[in-house]
Amino acid sequence: MTGSASLEDVRHLVDPDRVHRDLYTDPGIYAREQTRLWARAWVYIGHDSQTPAVGDYYTTEIAGQSLLMLRKSADEVTVVMNRCAHKGSLLVHDTHGNCGKVLRCPYHAWTYRLDGSLLAIPLKKDYEGTNLSSCPSGKGLSAPGAVMNYKGFVFVRLSEEGPDFASYFGEALATLDNMVARAPDGELSVLGQPLRNVIQCNWKLYLENVNDTVHPISTHESAAAAAKDVAESLPETSDTVLAMEQLLPFGAGYTFYSEMGARVLPYGHSVLGTKFSIHTGYAALPDYQRDLEARHGEAAAKEILQFSPQNTVLYPSLAAKASPMILRVVRPLALDRTLVEVWAFAPKNGPARLRQRAASYARLVFSPMSVVAHDDVHLFESQQRALLCSGNEWLSLHRGYQEGEIDQTPASIDSGNNEWVIRNQHRGWLALMGESA
Ligand code: FES
Ligand SMILES: [Fe+2]
Repeated sequence: MTGSASLEDVRHLVDPDRVHRDLYTDPGIYAREQTRLWARAWVYIGHDSQTPAVGDYYTTEIAGQSLLMLRKSADEVTVVMNRCAHKGSLLVHDTHGNCGKVLRCPYHAWTYRLDGSLLAIPLKKDYEGTNLSSCPSGKGLSAPGAVMNYKGFVFVRLSEEGPDFASYFGEALATLDNMVARAPDGELSVLGQPLRNVIQCNWKLYLENVNDTVHPISTHESAAAAAKDVAESLPETSDTVLAMEQLLPFGAGYTFYSEMGARVLPYGHSVLGTKFSIHTGYAALPDYQRDLEARHGEAAAKEILQFSPQNTVLYPSLAAKASPMILRVVRPLALDRTLVEVWAFAPKNGPARLRQRAASYARLVFSPMSVVAHDDVHLFESQQRALLCSGNEWLSLHRGYQEGEIDQTPASIDSGNNEWVIRNQHRGWLALMGESA
């Protein structure tokens, strides 16, 4: 397919129980995703603790557009396009930093206030009598269609049109609520910079795996076996126990994953592990629990700590773990290239053990050097290549399918192994792809 795919092209690629390989391999589909799906969806930018001081900024790219999250005052961050209003130079080139009191374009020195408005232009007199003030270039930096800072988690919708934030995410926000509720004083902070992993596969292959409960038993067999060997051979130190607490559950069998349950939500969102997950068995921290009880009351604190889904997908850009506090951010770079950023979080004034838990999990499971992630990455990249083989153009998502499920969202699913959680991502994909931007 050359150029952007049409709506008609797209409709034929998602059946109720399978999807066509073009979703991952066709440049026309990728082009339509950029202008439709990524424009109309609410996409995660970053956490406002990434920019703690006035003038701090963080840049990221969505659908080929560079955006700038900027701390404009002690209690407000804004998001603007990282594009000079004059002739389109990038305003800042680093992923993060501090711009001082103003943003100054490195090309011809136009300057902007931290809210994006135009402050000064060299040779201002030469513009007198011109149409600059009625041109978008005279109005300062442009902004995405909508911005939402939800309890510190900053999202944008590139397009002016599209669903509002609350109705787009709905119940999926409960996982972000839970992360904040786990902070004894209600404040979270990122733990430094993220792990960045560029994977040679389409972004959807990565995001599907977030809901794939059947792969750990085979894909991560060696990691779980190694963890078991180490656990049996080493003396117990606190570090060893932490690593084992996190890696040993990867050896759980099909029944464990089946019984954890799941929930599917509109627009492709989901919660996997509604009853429990591989994170539920982490050791209790009595002092911390008492701090939470002081803030929320005993029953609510217990509920907050019990809610620890395997993964919540806030489609299409985010996979969240409430415990350990980890966000994985998905950024398509090309049809067959995806950047995944892994951000670890902790309560600002929480116990050291929670910081260790998040940092350790990120390193042990999601680092490209870890014993877990490299097995996944190898298989995502092999999928991207092997999908081009002739003889079968479809990916099977038949596990657990029953006619009529398509009309039942939102829905709770008994078995975490039901591929409904993955089919649901593609229904969200189709809904966003089908709309005109
Ligand atoms: S492009 Fe920025 S000042 Fe000219
Ligand atoms: Fe995996």
